[in-house]
Amino acid sequence: MQPDSVKNIGIIGAGLMGHGIAQIFAHEGYRVSVYDANDDALKTLRQRIKKNLEIFMLLGITDNSRANQCLENIRVCSSISEAAGSADVIIEAINENKGLKKELFRELEHIIGSETVVCTNTSAISITELSESLSYRERFVGTHFWNPPHILPCVEIVKGLYTSEEVFEGVCRLMKRVKKEPVRVLRDVPGFLGNRLQHAMWREAISLVEKGVASAEDVDKVVKFGFGLRLCFIGPFETADLAGLDLTYEVQKYLFPYLDNSPVPSPKLENLVESGFTGVKAGRGFYSWTKDKVQQLI
Ligand code: NAI
Repeated sequence: MQPDSVKNIGIIGAGLMGHGIAQIFAHEGYRVSVYDANDDALKTLRQRIKKNLEIFMLLGITDNSRANQCLENIRVCSSISEAAGSADVIIEAINENKGLKKELFRELEHIIGSETVVCTNTSAISITELSESLSYRERFVGTHFWNPPHILPCVEIVKGLYTSEEVFEGVCRLMKRVKKEPVRVLRDVPGFLGNRLQHAMWREAISLVEKGVASAEDVDKVVKFGFGLRLCFIGPFETADLAGLDLTYEVQKYLFPYLDNSPVPSPKLENLVESGFTGVKAGRGFYSWTKDKVQQLI
């Protein structure tokens, strides 16, 4: 797959992720065709992207003419075949439901061209499993954008067992073209890279609060005012090299037996979820949330 030959992008699913992904490509000059099974998602698509672009204009990331061109590059489609039929690359961003996704990928077998590359934005489902029975499985790859996709640079490019090297590298180059930072995930492991790191930290963070070592607020403070700021610029391996690997090794020898290694989520998290305390959307999670407090956060 040669990124130079890519002109048309098909997006299936125009929700939280799909609309932002459509914006990324349209803003960089690609023709983007979008389909969603829900009419409302399609009706509000342009408005949602327009709002994002207005913020980009205020921040100087784009100007009026590029913003207008971006909106012009987007075509709202009334069927999957309209969005996918002439696409060089398709990005699926429908709900995280294995059955639904598999059904869609089977349908695409009858629609897409012989060179079309199909990407899935799944957060966690195995790329190999999603593609194993497809006729185009060597042209199938994971592209895990981070939310919000039009803002965060990271995209994990995940190689399934059947993904060809050419497609894998071609998609990495395409992401660079649209100013993203592709990260190569060479083996299809659950959680890819980012979610494994994130949930490993959450397991320890929740465990510390559960054991009464510190409050949720103080654990958050260690990240916000300690290593979190550093992590904006320096990754964990660079930090380890900076600290000294001899020190890192000694600390790990001493510390690892004390870290939480539970194979199941903590009872505290389970209790919160079962009590309906699901976080910001419920007004209560580890913290109590008011509208004002949420606005301060995002
Ligand atoms: P969403 O619920 O906001 O949007 C999904 C959209 O897909 C809906 O508008 C729905 O109508 C549409 N849809 C469902 N079945 C369809 C079908 N067969 N054909 C066409 N459209 C269909 O979901 P969201 O959050 O955008 O997630 C999409 C994917 O991105 C999921 O796989 C999710 O795991 C992944 N993801 C989500 C992130 C997040 O923070 N929300 C971050 C990274 C990945």
